[in-house]
Amino acid sequence: MCGITACVAEGDVVDELLTGLANLEYRGYDSSGIAVPRGEADVSVLKRSGEIDALREAVAETVPAGSIGIGHTRWSTHGPPTDENAHPHTDCTGTVSVVHNGIIENHETLREELRQRGHEFTSDTDTEVIPHLIEEGLDDGRSTDEAFRRAVDRLEGSFAVVTLCGGEGSLYATRRGSPLVLGLDDDRQFLASDVPSFLEYTDRVVHLEDGDVVEVGPAGYRVTDTDGDRLPREPTSVDWQPEDAERDGYEHYMLKEINEQPQALDRTVRGRIEDDGGVSLSSFPPGSFDGVSDVQFVACGTSYHAALYAREHLVESGVRAHAFRAGEYATTPTPVTEDTLVVAVTQSGETADTLQSIRHARDEGARTLAVTNVVGSTAARTCDDALFIRAGPEIGVAATKTFSSQVTALSLLGERLVEDLTGSPSEDRAERAAAFRRLPSDLTRVLEDSTVADLADRYRDRDAYFFIGRGVGHPVALEGALKFKEITYEHAEGFGSAELKHGPLALVTEETPVVAVFDGRHEEKALANVEEVRARGAPVIAIAGEGSRKVRELADEFLPVPDTHPDALGVLANVQLQLVSYHVADLLGRSIDKPRNLAKSVTVE
Ligand code: M6R
Repeated sequence: MCGITACVAEGDVVDELLTGLANLEYRGYDSSGIAVPRGEADVSVLKRSGEIDALREAVAETVPAGSIGIGHTRWSTHGPPTDENAHPHTDCTGTVSVVHNGIIENHETLREELRQRGHEFTSDTDTEVIPHLIEEGLDDGRSTDEAFRRAVDRLEGSFAVVTLCGGEGSLYATRRGSPLVLGLDDDRQFLASDVPSFLEYTDRVVHLEDGDVVEVGPAGYRVTDTDGDRLPREPTSVDWQPEDAERDGYEHYMLKEINEQPQALDRTVRGRIEDDGGVSLSSFPPGSFDGVSDVQFVACGTSYHAALYAREHLVESGVRAHAFRAGEYATTPTPVTEDTLVVAVTQSGETADTLQSIRHARDEGARTLAVTNVVGSTAARTCDDALFIRAGPEIGVAATKTFSSQVTALSLLGERLVEDLTGSPSEDRAERAAAFRRLPSDLTRVLEDSTVADLADRYRDRDAYFFIGRGVGHPVALEGALKFKEITYEHAEGFGSAELKHGPLALVTEETPVVAVFDGRHEEKALANVEEVRARGAPVIAIAGEGSRKVRELADEFLPVPDTHPDALGVLANVQLQLVSYHVADLLGRSIDKPRNLAKSVTVE
């Protein structure tokens, strides 16, 4: 996945481009570049491998300027992260420059054709075919608009593309399967992969649709379809504040995002829980899911763990529900009927595997629903319905506050599903609802009282780490292990507690801490599993409700959370795990907000 930024204004736009790129670095960060006009008809391209500071240094040396420009931060899919492979890419004449996010599936065929017609290539990327195709259109005497459309017509795959041609006062762009939004300010306009790119300049955005072609000049924009017919695309305002996307004095975005979970959860539940514990979801009044026979969740990574978590409640309440990893679902889809509800859980709303899964489900006639953080995201627009988790922008690659908000929003949705599908509320509806309403304040206590920083110092240097749990403790254990490996780069695995003795126990020694999550249910069995690892000498770090006397006595280290309903307790336990990962990674000096090889949103399959 990569990040596109572009700006056209009355004055110089290089600062806006660099700011936009810095704001998008979470989308990929192995190289970056910009292009601005040079002279009457040329463009000047500056690009560097490495983090954006390398590009800043190059800009400081060469001082490029221009009132129109495009920029890109890359996460490699075709070719290694070198200066040559960084975007923007240009044509043979150096007058057409292009930035691109996504994959051009037929790039090899196009490259071969273009080579035979005399074009020369300087990178290994799929992107580079685009400026050469535009070049051919211009050579044939077409307008830039027409040459751009012709070039895009030849592309197969999923992509967002922005082009700057020398001598032009407008940018031309399109999207098909990859995100692209317009930002509108009074005297400057932006194009970007995501809103945080230009959030400090404007909150007025136009979410472009697949197939839209947009021409953007300093005074406005014009959206047309692939045939050139005008399309109505009205701006809306986003309610994210620029400071929501800044670090606010924290050393890392991840730590800031862990600490802002009480506010995020407050937004997630606000106005959605009634006094008697019933849910009030404006888009889903009672009866919204009448006729649904079964629920399939599709999601990746952390969102998959949130889906597994949500499934527990449904299954316990008598609803047929399954959670699938979207990457596997997209390859081997599970049969659906028109009575199946397929729920895509995706923070970004742009994860390619998840989108592929819901497109398949939709084509097979299932009803689809996106649970996402991003209004206007592809998932929200592809599904029949959407439920927004309202966590606010998450910049750290490691998902933290969005997991807590996903679980909470899914819990509310779960209650509506239980009532509609079984005809009666969950047995413990009132207690569950009260626990989720209390979650922001319970979470504040966890954050204030956590002793994880000391513990991290004692356990930072081990061979491997195991995470186990039962009930909702199981997805929390999986999530704890994912977060730990993602940002500490240390080996970590999560298991259902019962699974340990079927193989993983062979790896447990006195050098492998076992982190055990207790959700308040199944305590005797979970304690027996802990005894199994203690017998092998493994230090046990237990996370449980503060009143769990037996757990406290058995464990080597005890991380308490407020006693509450098990489904809310799992969220609190997970916050302790987020802190464990964060502090160990910090002590090891890892790149916490931008872990190696990873990107915030994975828009390739
Ligand atoms: O945007 P999504 O929720 O669809 O992203 C899915 C995963 O890529 C994501 O949750 C990933 O596992 C996290 N960054 C891990 O912290």
